[in-house]
Formats: sequence, structure tokens, C-alpha cells
Amino acid sequence: MSENSKDSKSHSKQPVVKREMSRRQFLSYTLGGTGGFLAAGLMVPMVRFAVDPVLQPKKNADWVKVVEESKVTDVPQSFKFSVHQVDGWYESDPELEAWISKDKAGNIFALNPTCKHLGCTVNWEKTEYHCPCHGARYTKEGKNLVVAPLPLDEYSVKIDKGFVYVGQLHANETSKK
Ligand code: FES
Repeated sequence: MSENSKDSKSHSKQPVVKREMSRRQFLSYTLGGTGGFLAAGLMVPMVRFAVDPVLQPKKNADWVKVVEESKVTDVPQSFKFSVHQVDGWYESDPELEAWISKDKAGNIFALNPTCKHLGCTVNWEKTEYHCPCHGARYTKEGKNLVVAPLPLDEYSVKIDKGFVYVGQLHANETSKK
């Protein structure tokens, strides 16, 4: 018989050492696992509560009824209206303003009076919009003439059952017509 076979016999006779879990290990695993499970159970609703509004799909802004169509003229007029806003958990109803008039083709359009220079509020003065802060001027359609780098933004407009409704704000299109 070779020496190798002797060695293998001697190895196979060694007792198998079974590693037992100590009481300390058992307690730490059990308590650690239970604690982790409870912590996760508490954290999931808290994280969901904090993040939920951010994950909600944003609703399109509702249309807001502003004025009777028959009251809109060629000369711009200022109309105030409020919009319900939901920003995360915060809800508000800020008052907004639109200058509403008819373009050359008789279509009704609504301008936002926030100056595109530094955000003051413009006013209609006889033939143009003027900004009191640094002298920006705009045409009736909102095209920027001096100081301001861009035309006044305008609201989407729809007419329904004799009333003018305004919706989302967007870049001015009326001044390009
Ligand atoms: S904010 Fe209107 S001109 Fe400066």
C-alpha cells in the first residue's frame, strides 16, 4: 500500500468538528433581525409620507373663468383672477393678473404683466405697455421694444359659452403673428 493511501485513511478518521452557535450569537442575530424588521416597518410609511406628493403626476392647470367675452375690447384691460395651486403638501390661491384684448384678426389673447427684464409689473399706457422700474416697453401684443430681452408671456385662452377662460402660461406667440 502506498503512503498516499495511508494518509487519506488517517485523514478520514479525524472527527468532524461541528460549529455550534453560541447563546450570545443566537441572541445578537435574533435581536438584530427583529430590530431591523421593525425599523424598516417604521421607515417605509415615513418615507412614503414625505415623498408621496412629489411622485404624484402633476395635473394640468385648470381653466379659470375670467370675464365675459363681450367685455373684451381692442384696448387691453386688466383682469384679476385666482388659481388654486398645490405644491407638495402646500395649497394656495394666489391672485394673478392678465391683460386681455383682441389682436388685429379679432382673436382674444391674454398677456401676463410680469416684465421680462427683472420681474416688475407692467401697465398699459395709451399705446404700449410700460414698466415703471427701468423703462421697458412692449407693444399691445407683448413684443419687447426696449430694455426687456423677451416678449411678455401669455396665457392659453379659450372661449366657452360666452366667457373667456385662461389656462397655462407660455412663451408669447401673438407678437410673432
Ligand atoms: S423690471 Fe421692467 S424694466 Fe426692469
